[in-house]
Amino acid sequence: YTAQIDASDLEKGTYPYYMLKEIDEQPAVMRNIVQKYQNEDGRLTVPEDLVAAMLDADRIHIVACGTSYHSGWVGKHYLEKIAQIPTEVHVASEFSYNPPLLTGKPFFIFLSQSGETADSRQVLVKAREWGYPALTITNVAGSTLSREADYTLLLHAGPEIAVASTKAYTAQIAVLAVLSDALGAKLGHDMGIDMVHELGIVANAMESIITQKELIAELADIYLPNTRNAFYIGRGLDYFVSMEAALKLKEISYIQTEGFAAGELKHGTIALIEEGTPVLAIITQADVASHTRGNVEEVRSRGANTCVFAMEGLANENDQIVLPAVHPALAPLLTVVPTQLMAYYATLHRGYDVDKPRNLAKSVTVE
Ligand code: G6P
Repeated sequence: YTAQIDASDLEKGTYPYYMLKEIDEQPAVMRNIVQKYQNEDGRLTVPEDLVAAMLDADRIHIVACGTSYHSGWVGKHYLEKIAQIPTEVHVASEFSYNPPLLTGKPFFIFLSQSGETADSRQVLVKAREWGYPALTITNVAGSTLSREADYTLLLHAGPEIAVASTKAYTAQIAVLAVLSDALGAKLGHDMGIDMVHELGIVANAMESIITQKELIAELADIYLPNTRNAFYIGRGLDYFVSMEAALKLKEISYIQTEGFAAGELKHGTIALIEEGTPVLAIITQADVASHTRGNVEEVRSRGANTCVFAMEGLANENDQIVLPAVHPALAPLLTVVPTQLMAYYATLHRGYDVDKPRNLAKSVTVE
């Protein structure tokens, strides 16, 4: 008798699934990114020629698919708020056949964990034909999108094996924050964010969420039992995380989930709220917190089963998860973690294979 051991199983160590291991690795990934992008003076930097090329552009186009597309929205927020460069975000497969009207000096950013996604590559090939500069932000050195772009920034997240992306999402956001910070510093826009310090706080806060797995597993049981559908809602950065949180839940638990801009619900989608419909709200941004609270009340009064993830300082005593305070601009790095864990436990409870969801591939190399 010979034991049949899959070599890839060994790397999971004591973890039942890669996804859980990769969720747990996120604090270390944050610290690794700080280390890799820090120069001798302790400042976070990206290559000078990349900074020059980006500052020469009149508009940035972020192009990506899936989870990487969702981190692109947070990247747009950083590039516009921290570096003050107008930025658009595109689904790669849409851009290919319906490109937007381009300005005189566009600059392209391709976000891709694998660096191999065919839909994204198709746009990169076009951008190069047109003669526009391109940066690939990827986890895989030497990948196709990295080789074919003018510039590459690496995620330094270590291999991501689970089909549902977790640490690559947070790594992409952290690298986009580092990049925006470097551009903003060069332009003299001081947002007053000490990125090294703030990313360190994020890493610690992620650790404190990761130690609350039992609580989150219970919440998954309470809010996402045999439900057919669910909603994540938020505003601004919390809306962007809602889109990713919804995708995570869809991908692995097969619960039909929508990530929604909280204020837009009343314009149609609120019709779907029935007795017991799970609505998970993310509240981390002070300027819109009371508005999202109002939306939570609207759906609750129509029977929704509401679960609130709120940041310390904006939390109420009845909120289900209180997240440690981090710099509000970096909140997506933290808030996504409990939503990843909610998806993980909801899937476990339903008895599905967390790492290998049906119909999905880790890397899609066909159009
Ligand atoms: C596939 C995966 C997704 C991923 C997307 C983009 O569809 O299942 O999890 O987000 O590709 O992948 P990339 O490697 O380009 O980030």
